[in-house]
Amino acid sequence: MSNVLRLAIVDPNDASRETIKSLLLGMDLVWLEAECSRYEFFGDIVEQTNPDVGVVCLDEDPEIGLELVERLHETSSCAVLVVSNSDDGSLILRTMRAGAKEILTVPITAEELIGALERISNARSGGGKGKSRGCVTIAVAGASGGVGSTSLAVNIGCALASDESNSVALVDLDLAVGDADVFLDAIPDYTLVDVSQNVARLDFTLLKKSMTKHSSGLYLLPRPVQLQDAPLIDPDDFARVVGLLKATFSHLIFDLSKSYGELDMVAMRESRQVLLITQLDLPCLRNVVRLMMSFDEEEGLKEKVKIVINRMGLDAEHIGLKKAQETINSDIFWRIPNDYRSMAEARNNGVPLTVQSPKAAITQAVVNLAAALNGDETAEQEAVGASEKKSGMSKWLPFMGGKS
Ligand SMILES: Nc1ncnc2c1ncn2[C@@H]1O[C@H](COP(=O)(O)OP(=O)(O)O)[C@@H](O)[C@H]1O
Ligand SMILES: [Mg+2]
Repeated sequence: MSNVLRLAIVDPNDASRETIKSLLLGMDLVWLEAECSRYEFFGDIVEQTNPDVGVVCLDEDPEIGLELVERLHETSSCAVLVVSNSDDGSLILRTMRAGAKEILTVPITAEELIGALERISNARSGGGKGKSRGCVTIAVAGASGGVGSTSLAVNIGCALASDESNSVALVDLDLAVGDADVFLDAIPDYTLVDVSQNVARLDFTLLKKSMTKHSSGLYLLPRPVQLQDAPLIDPDDFARVVGLLKATFSHLIFDLSKSYGELDMVAMRESRQVLLITQLDLPCLRNVVRLMMSFDEEEGLKEKVKIVINRMGLDAEHIGLKKAQETINSDIFWRIPNDYRSMAEARNNGVPLTVQSPKAAITQAVVNLAAALNGDETAEQEAVGASEKKSGMSKWLPFMGGKS
């Protein structure tokens, strides 16, 4: 990951150093470069390892600790993050004057830590307002029921998780009838409800523990068990969970519901890329047009949308790709061929396409799509062929814009 923050920490107190370390080690986007138990050695360690952030825990000896903060501020380029159990205003003022960029009060919550590191990271990268440094966030939306959103979300997740340097999480937001757990043959202990309701108490390690890990490496946060539990997820709590997930995982995928409810909107807002899955049929393409018009009302959303045609070749004689593209007036980002057997068998066996049908064209298309979403500019769209030929769409085209 290019945006990982490299940290060095000093705290003469072993117990509190271990506490902070375990908090930091659970974050995927942080790399602990060095740790030190003596204030007097830390300057040299920083000079040798040149971290992005120097974490100084003041409590063992605030006077010597403050001198160190001042020295680091003057002699090194690292941002200093101070940790202290004191809420004494004058100490805080002195710490700021000594040059600390951030001060966290013990006990530190995961959210406070993320916030501080984000501010440091944003300041270092020239002040962008993005919520996360490096997490690749993808929301998978569908133009209609059954277009293949879950199939693609799960398989993109598994494809990304096959690279061991990635840590990938999938959140099932289809609260009523979500079935990502079926695709992954998982029986989860906890759901989105448990995690959202306890967000204030969660740290990165606990969050990861409450998720179910599939053999592909993909972590799943499933929908609630009971239909009645869905309203218990507060959108603000959910947004906080997303913040934690972003700091914990290198890749985060949302399988959205088809109701485009509040949680779906939070997920789309928090994602850098939104896949809109559609098939080449009239109801779906109409919905693409309608959805894009609605997305236009939400600042910055339409620009993030990438249209993916699923099940290419299913209905070859009806609507051609070119006509579809003209109609929806957007580029088509990717095409996935129709291969019911591979997809259904993969789902029924609870394994990804890469395991079920490694050589199939559909698998290659999904793997390449995952690579493209991950920023691989060499990832290519295979020729999908079949339904790119002439279409009879002009018959219904005049109705497209009218009633939406
Ligand atoms: N590319 C594809 N080729 C053939 N069948 C597919 C393809 N993608 C999805 N399917 C099938 O379509 C059905 C609906 O897929 P699903 O992912 O559950 O859709 P959604 O989540 O949008 O409701 C499933 O039976 C799945 O196996
Ligand atoms: Mg689904």
